[in-house]
Amino acid sequence: MSFDLESLVEARRGLNFKLHQEFLNPQLAKVLKTLGMDRYYERGEGCYLIDREGERYLDFLSGFGVYALGRSHPVVKKALHDALDMDLPNLVQLDCALLPGLLAEALVGRLHEGIGRVFFSNSGAEAVEAAIKFSKYATGRPRVLYADHAFHGLTNGVLSLNGGKEFREGFGPLLPGCDSVGFGDLAALERELARGDVAAFVVELIQGKGVYLAPEEYWTAAEQLCRKHGTLFVADEVQTGLGRTGKMWAYEHYGLRPDIVTVSKALSGGYVPIGATACSAEVFDRVYSKMERAVVHSTTFGRNQLAMVAGLATLQTIDDEDIVERARLSGEAFEKALTPLVDKYELFHEVRGKGLMIGLVFGEPSSLRLKSRWKMLEGARKGLFSQLIVGPLFNRHRILTQVAADNVNIVKLLPPLICGQEEIDYFVDALDDVLNDAHRNSSLVFEFGKTLAKSALHR
Ligand SMILES: Cc1ncc(COP(=O)(O)O)c(C=O)c1O
Repeated sequence: MSFDLESLVEARRGLNFKLHQEFLNPQLAKVLKTLGMDRYYERGEGCYLIDREGERYLDFLSGFGVYALGRSHPVVKKALHDALDMDLPNLVQLDCALLPGLLAEALVGRLHEGIGRVFFSNSGAEAVEAAIKFSKYATGRPRVLYADHAFHGLTNGVLSLNGGKEFREGFGPLLPGCDSVGFGDLAALERELARGDVAAFVVELIQGKGVYLAPEEYWTAAEQLCRKHGTLFVADEVQTGLGRTGKMWAYEHYGLRPDIVTVSKALSGGYVPIGATACSAEVFDRVYSKMERAVVHSTTFGRNQLAMVAGLATLQTIDDEDIVERARLSGEAFEKALTPLVDKYELFHEVRGKGLMIGLVFGEPSSLRLKSRWKMLEGARKGLFSQLIVGPLFNRHRILTQVAADNVNIVKLLPPLICGQEEIDYFVDALDDVLNDAHRNSSLVFEFGKTLAKSALHR
């Protein structure tokens, strides 16, 4: 019998968690079951996931940001169907194919004029790995700086730039010469740069883990310091890029001109893995300096045609549908709708972020009644309260969100950039309901927290 995807899926539907428990990651399956998130999703459409019972879930996680255009975007889908039907000669390797050229041209055209060349890979981590290698080679220097709380992926090299010890522990020794500086701390940055041996300062313009922002005035000064000390300024735009923050690139908020920009996530519409390391021609040409070095850094699937097609279709759709401006406007609408809840609920402290990269910050309440419960919960497991928001948002209101990082009470929203007032209103009403419950029927909510704390959540 020949392979038939539809009948295979039909025959095995609903067995997803069982298979993961047996053959993939049983701990992940356990965590999701504990949180009541063990669903069988059958389809994805725009801002929504649809499960086997036909229930719709508002997806404010967007596959960690890849679904900027929403799920199953018809333009990207058609482009991929077309590419398959054209029997494109993929991965010839000893070839300079047209589509990578077109996508590189399209990317360069959307970046600042100091950027001239692109290296394609398969993920955000790989895009940053290339940035590390390029920086070291181009400057002839050994060290790389990164910021506290930074997240640039989890392969061995970029793990060396990871600001969270929960990810690093037990995987050492990591790359030598990688040192952290406080996010937004100019004095610390200058101290390290002044040693004259730093190849690159790799930094997110808005940190994904926790949605942290540095002071506005930090950025120009940080970039200037890098220039002054001969260090490359690397903007990791894997998450913030392509409209997420209400500008095409987050560096535009601060008028910066990074030497290297890393891109991934939204670039291929969520269909095909892709990573891109965009750099100045000067940096690139130092690395690929002569014919003998033409493949000194490469990866087998890097310029694969399906990723290139999806990338081209995505970039054009971002323009055609005015996605960046829509993200900016929706970001403002979110802020306007969420701010009254900060005034209304003592456990809700702050809304922060830019565009549609939003952090909801929860913290210690002021009233005695809630304070003792809060302390009990924080004592059981730091950051547990945010789980008490994410859980009911999902189970009661069918909205998918995430806790922004380990041990913090911050919930992160990464909605598709196509979301509009309807989705914003639905979310804000749901959050109002969940917070109302946490304040009014706090014993119930906090009891649930205790149960979670005792359960398998400890990984
Ligand atoms: C800023 C940033 N850089 C790099 C990465 C790593 O990307 P990937 O998971 O595709 O390796 C991420 C992933 O979340 C990220 O947010």
